[in-house]
Amino acid sequence: METERARKYPFIPGTPALCIVGAVGNYVITDDGRRILDGAGGAVVNNIGYGRAEIADIAARAVSGSGYTLPTFATEARVRLIERLTDRWLPAGLTRCLFVSGGSESVDTAIRIARQHHEAKGNPNKWKVLGRSISYHGSTLASLSVGNHDRRRAGLGQWITDLPKIDVYDADLAAKVVEAEDPASIAAIIAEPVIGASGAAIVPPDDYWPALRRLCTDNDILLIADEVMTGFGRTGKKMGVDHWSVTPDLLVGAKGLAGGYAAIGGVFATDEVVEPLAEGSIMYFTFSGNDLACSIADRVLQIIEDEGLVGRSAALGDRLRALLEDRLGEHPNVADIRGLGLLQGVELVRDRATGESFDGQLAMPVVQQALKRDCWIYPAGSAGVPDGLLFGPAFTISEHELEVLVDVAAESIDAAVAQINS
Ligand SMILES: Cc1ncc(COP(=O)(O)O)c(C=O)c1O
Repeated sequence: METERARKYPFIPGTPALCIVGAVGNYVITDDGRRILDGAGGAVVNNIGYGRAEIADIAARAVSGSGYTLPTFATEARVRLIERLTDRWLPAGLTRCLFVSGGSESVDTAIRIARQHHEAKGNPNKWKVLGRSISYHGSTLASLSVGNHDRRRAGLGQWITDLPKIDVYDADLAAKVVEAEDPASIAAIIAEPVIGASGAAIVPPDDYWPALRRLCTDNDILLIADEVMTGFGRTGKKMGVDHWSVTPDLLVGAKGLAGGYAAIGGVFATDEVVEPLAEGSIMYFTFSGNDLACSIADRVLQIIEDEGLVGRSAALGDRLRALLEDRLGEHPNVADIRGLGLLQGVELVRDRATGESFDGQLAMPVVQQALKRDCWIYPAGSAGVPDGLLFGPAFTISEHELEVLVDVAAESIDAAVAQINS
């Protein structure tokens, strides 16, 4: 595509990073014929690889013979997806499903449900939703309010409600915030099982989620697991909370649900959460659960099941971790390597010995260096973790491709640090 035409794309005028003409397997193809190895499934979305003919078939069938159907009407595609999710994917106890079009919408909807649940039970003072000190839950105003991604909240002033935040590693500290805030004012706590975009794959201690679960149960607070990034096999289990055998009251998912082939998210809840709500009290979005998206999500999940891709995410996650440790474990600009399954993160610093940071100036240059070398790695970070890299490839990636990715990451860190220091 000519540069002049491509310049029409960015909303804020500038040059688009890349001009993409297609994608196949684990590669994205640019208009000048480059094949970019996708080490992050786009924005940690793609999980079954690109260009799957099975998905094209199902999409064609979904749109021929139907068009738009009001979200309140039952259709075969919607019910089939609910059956697959409740029978095979969600923690036992999550029986109610509501579809939306993405992650932010799912978080926003879960916040509404939590609030309306308490209101309907006669507890109108329970309104606060506590998020965590390092977190990202989306870019609607409510999801920005419960999250703590400083760069993404910047410039929004009074539109962001400053809700209390709890610690990401220590559930005892979380309990202290709950006590200080008054449990009678708290509707829900929301947390990512493994903290993605804002923290570069922070994994909590094993006792953290069970302790959060107890804290919520003891105080009539709903626990919302934000599995937008971690859900559907990404961490090597079906859901991130499965690592600690915890059932949240609400679980939200999006990215991996349809592997990027359709825009769909979901809010999944227990009977107890839904029971007090009056019929029709949760307003839908116009495009919620459209048949095209539901059919594609159902097929993507079936492919993951048939090809054993959750197990592959676990096994290849271990391999990726070993490669990262080997190449970057002693690197002077690497503070930590962490993650679960095929969601692995590298925390970058100016000086490993002192922990001094690059103040958010390193992650993007590293990603640009990697792109020059035909690899895509996702930049991560916010105030708590200023610079990080996220690795989240499709579960179909090969061991050799992982090796290439890690070699390129190591070269790119060196090149970006040299560039900044020169
Ligand atoms: C944990 C988490 N929650 C919510 C979101 C928002 O999802 P979306 O960008 O689909 O609105 C993201 C996106 O990165 C996320 O990682």
